[in-house]
Amino acid sequence: MSGKKKSNWFKAHNNDFYVRLSKKNDYKSRAAYKLIELEEKFSLIRGSKNVLDLGCAPGSWLQVLSSFPNLISIVGVDRLEIDRIQGVEFFRYDISDLSLLDLLTKKFNSKFNLVLSDIAPNITGIVDVDQANFASVTENVLNISNKLLEIDGNLIIKQFNGPRLKEISNLLEISFKKIEVFKPKSSKKNSSEVYIVCKGFKDC
Ligand SMILES: C[S@@+](CC[C@H](N)C(=O)[O-])C[C@H]1O[C@@H](n2cnc3c(N)ncnc32)[C@H](O)[C@@H]1O
Repeated sequence: MSGKKKSNWFKAHNNDFYVRLSKKNDYKSRAAYKLIELEEKFSLIRGSKNVLDLGCAPGSWLQVLSSFPNLISIVGVDRLEIDRIQGVEFFRYDISDLSLLDLLTKKFNSKFNLVLSDIAPNITGIVDVDQANFASVTENVLNISNKLLEIDGNLIIKQFNGPRLKEISNLLEISFKKIEVFKPKSSKKNSSEVYIVCKGFKDC
């Protein structure tokens, strides 16, 4: 990014309503408001005891989760380090690493009521490549949630609203009773991200 473009980006970022709100409320990022909106609409956190947050850094979703007194365990995974949050168990791993799946399965087999994934692969701007990268993230998230979700558990997974969204929704429909696509107001309008809310993990 050129110097001018960078300074325009910072100006727009600092003027962003949700950036200002997250600074005021001490959230690590504006992403907190996406989870808050997801919860307002779907009430999946308040009905859970154990939650796994994949791609959790810098940790604003973990902060939101920590404010729910009904949660017994909150587990976060990211390939980047995070500042530790009280009451959160963190694992620094890439989600494609099979030893993560092994470790989590041994520790938490079928324990989670809710799995979250806010992972976005690096965006290239080439729609086909970006969709394929999202497909590979989806496959890894599904491998993990298939092992770790309890029957009737739920999954919220970030995706691109592109040509392969339907295909991915169809794939998720195999494992879940109900699928809904949701775009929070706090998600930037010019971003094609959406969240697929998958309810009722089936015993396939
Ligand atoms: C949009 S951020 C998540 C923000 C987070 N929900 C929050 O509220 O702070 C996406 C995260 O996914 C992580 N990520 C991307 N690919 C990953 C992978 N293959 N394995 C683990 N983490 C990954 C990135 O390191 C990044 O921290």
